[in-house]
Amino acid sequence: MATDQPHSADYFGEARDYWWNSDFIELMGRRLDLGAAGRVLDVGAGIGHWGRALAPALSASARLVGVDREDTWVAEATRRAERAGLAERFTYQRGDATALPFASETFDVVTCQTVLIHVPDPAHVLGEMLRVCKPGGLVLAVEPNNLANVAVQSSLSAQLPSHALVDTWRFHLVCQRGKQALGLGFNSVGDLVPGMLAALGAQDVRVYIGDRASPLFPPYAGREQAAEVAQFMDFVKREVWAWDHEETLRYFLAGGGAEAEFTTLWDGIGAQERAVADAIRAGTYATAGGCLSYLVSGRKPAGP
Ligand SMILES: C[S@@+](CC[C@H](N)C(=O)[O-])C[C@H]1O[C@@H](n2cnc3c(N)ncnc32)[C@H](O)[C@@H]1O
Repeated sequence: MATDQPHSADYFGEARDYWWNSDFIELMGRRLDLGAAGRVLDVGAGIGHWGRALAPALSASARLVGVDREDTWVAEATRRAERAGLAERFTYQRGDATALPFASETFDVVTCQTVLIHVPDPAHVLGEMLRVCKPGGLVLAVEPNNLANVAVQSSLSAQLPSHALVDTWRFHLVCQRGKQALGLGFNSVGDLVPGMLAALGAQDVRVYIGDRASPLFPPYAGREQAAEVAQFMDFVKREVWAWDHEETLRYFLAGGGAEAEFTTLWDGIGAQERAVADAIRAGTYATAGGCLSYLVSGRKPAGP
């Protein structure tokens, strides 16, 4: 991501609109009794994708507040809520996840999606989420393991020598550790969230996995695959493999990677990604596109 862009700008394209199956959200709504919530907080709301995905599971009288530290996203989330006919019920404001601008015990549900992966101390943010949650209320964190995604196979990667795949996976691991070392969050923190919530005293901690994959197979039909292809081709054009060159180098070095090794690994990944782009254009690329995203919930104890 270019440093003049607001946070996560590379990841707010149309492909994000297809992250959730509506019947899965309904199921989660029933499992977690989301329909009973009156006040909902979406922490690190971005441009509001997660709140809008949840909307059908909430009651018509529920009110959602989204907070984000980026003014640009607050304005865009507000616009999109208006466009979705949700302006009366969904409002957005500036706020910091590490010091939420709300009194303790304000919300029935406090949720976030792909936010704990970007903060230096996710347990602290979960603690803040529990603080502003009412006793008996629900904290729901949706966070991935993005290293698992790197291991997903495709018609191309399945033909590569094992050392090339191991190099790619190690490269991402070193970069993720570097990002974490720089205090910018751990991109696979989803695995650790249940333990953090339990250690903070949350009760009835539950862990689910999202049911959506991002498959790509010829002829790449439908809006979801078209959006996925468009995002990927844009990344290839700009040479963004999770992050751009400058950001990736910074993370790689901070993660203990050697500068002498970086160019070889970066070029290797670039070659793999360009081969994927060529195979898509040729109509020969296919993958089930698995992605590991957890929905981790816990209840704030109801009192002494
Ligand atoms: C990957 S985006 C996720 C956005 C949204 N939750 C979604 O899933 O579409 C991460 C968001 O967290 C916000 N963010 C990061 N650190 C934050 C903090 N300390 N306080 C508030 N927002 C934060 C970023 O500005 C960005 O909008």
